[in-house]
Amino acid sequence: MRALFVVLKPLCFLALLGYCPSATIRPKEGWQVYSSAQDADGRCICTVVAPEQNLCSRDAKSRQLRQLLEKIQNMSQSIEVLNLRTQRDFQYVMKMESQMKGLRSKFRQIESNRRTLLTKNFQELKGKMNELQPLIPVLEQYKTDATLISQFKEEIRNLSLVLTAIQEEIGAYDYEELQQKVLGLEGRLRNCMSKLTCGKLMKIMGPITVKTSGTRFGAWMTDPQASPKNNKVWYMDSYTNNKIVREYKSVSDFVSGVESRTYNLPFHWAGTNHVVYNGSLYYNKYQSNIIVRYSFESGRVMTQRALESAGFHNVYPYTWGGFSDIDLMADELGLWAIYATNQNAGNIVISRLDPLTIQVLNSWNTEYSKRNAGESFMICGTLYITNSHLTGAKVYYSYSTKTSTYEYMDIPIHNQYFHMSMLDYNARDRALYGWNNGHQVLFNVTLFHIIKTDDES
Ligand SMILES: *[C@@H]1O[C@H](CO)[C@@H](O)[C@H](O)[C@H]1NC(C)=O
Ligand SMILES: *[C@@H]1O[C@H](CO)[C@@H](O)[C@H](O)[C@H]1NC(C)=O
Ligand SMILES: *[C@@H]1O[C@H](CO)[C@@H](O)[C@H](O)[C@H]1NC(C)=O
Ligand SMILES: *[C@@H]1O[C@H](CO)[C@@H](O)[C@H](O)[C@H]1NC(C)=O
Repeated sequence: MRALFVVLKPLCFLALLGYCPSATIRPKEGWQVYSSAQDADGRCICTVVAPEQNLCSRDAKSRQLRQLLEKIQNMSQSIEVLNLRTQRDFQYVMKMESQMKGLRSKFRQIESNRRTLLTKNFQELKGKMNELQPLIPVLEQYKTDATLISQFKEEIRNLSLVLTAIQEEIGAYDYEELQQKVLGLEGRLRNCMSKLTCGKLMKIMGPITVKTSGTRFGAWMTDPQASPKNNKVWYMDSYTNNKIVREYKSVSDFVSGVESRTYNLPFHWAGTNHVVYNGSLYYNKYQSNIIVRYSFESGRVMTQRALESAGFHNVYPYTWGGFSDIDLMADELGLWAIYATNQNAGNIVISRLDPLTIQVLNSWNTEYSKRNAGESFMICGTLYITNSHLTGAKVYYSYSTKTSTYEYMDIPIHNQYFHMSMLDYNARDRALYGWNNGHQVLFNVTLFHIIKTDDES
């Protein structure tokens, strides 16, 4: 006796059985006879049975399951990205930890021979240890967070195994329960992602020299709002007397010099502190405090607006000059302008801008003199300011718009070509774009983030 089972997709399940049971043998419970065929002698050749109507709803379930599976696959992709980033940061944290351990053992050693050592050295080390002490619980927290991510990974792998298995055996698993599990996991992942994408700047790595071109001063950038596939590069050489923007389809086209378009702006620009955000170029119009929004798609100026009381034309430039009075930038939270005013005694003012109207939404006054700032960039609503555009430059001061507080810091930047005329953060790439004396460079940044585990179920 042959037994054939065929699954015909649009009609739920149809099974072809090698006997003719319709009259004498009832199909298994839950199945009904769909049709049967007999040979010339009246013997039954086969019967087609189908699941009873109510069981056809399983097909909807299988569709839902496929969606769930897709969702899980999407999540595993996100997890991979997360994991990659976290691993990078994690290595840094581990290094820091081992340095601290080294310091601690040195400290113990010194303590045991302290009579033989100069008190001053001892005090210095002790001070350093005390400074580092509060970091220890933070490090512990970080390690817990990294564990949490690998747990996520494992849970997702498990769930997707379960799903794959039950796709073939629908009904064996409680769909509602499964859905709850997936949704719960997704929620936690989202939460985790949003916490992980922002953080405090800890370290600047690099640079990588992408290209050597142009004058000593200029700007190059990509659009942080563009889709991951869109890697267009824009290039604006020189800080004055220019209005030609060059566009490249990708970084590799940029490196090999294959231009895809040029735009001839209606007004000259001032400085090197332009930004491309969501398909528009924002720049400071020459000899004014007007900000221009130019749309690449339409090739037209969409908006222009004066930045009220902002100094311009080398009244409040960065240390290198170059009409760098008004610095436009974007981060995870949106579009920003950094500048100085007489009212704030030439100190830096931070303004959040509406990307469409260029209106100021909110402003913060810092106490850091614009003329003493080498460059500045914004990450997650915090402004980081370097103290020079020359060798030895470091991130020296930060101002959080979330808490309206400042902090002195000491994060070195390798100023490889000795003169920095542009430095801007790109949230999509989590990197700093720099113009380093006619070299277009990229720095990676390490952001320190704590994932709160209170949403763990
Ligand atoms: C998975 O991701 C793709 C692409 O990002 C998206 O189109 C699709 O809707 C996502 N699927 C689910 C179930 O979230
Ligand atoms: C994943 O499955 C393995 C083997 O069944 C099990 O040992 C492990 O605890 C599961 N992990 C999670 C996070 O559910
Ligand atoms: C980006 O531009 C599109 C239209 O071009 C708009 O719908 C969207 O809200 C903009 N996004 C941001 C963050 O401004
Ligand atoms: C930044 O890190 C990524 C991933 O670790 C690496 O591929 C890239 O080369 C780094 N870029 C810089 C500028 O260091």
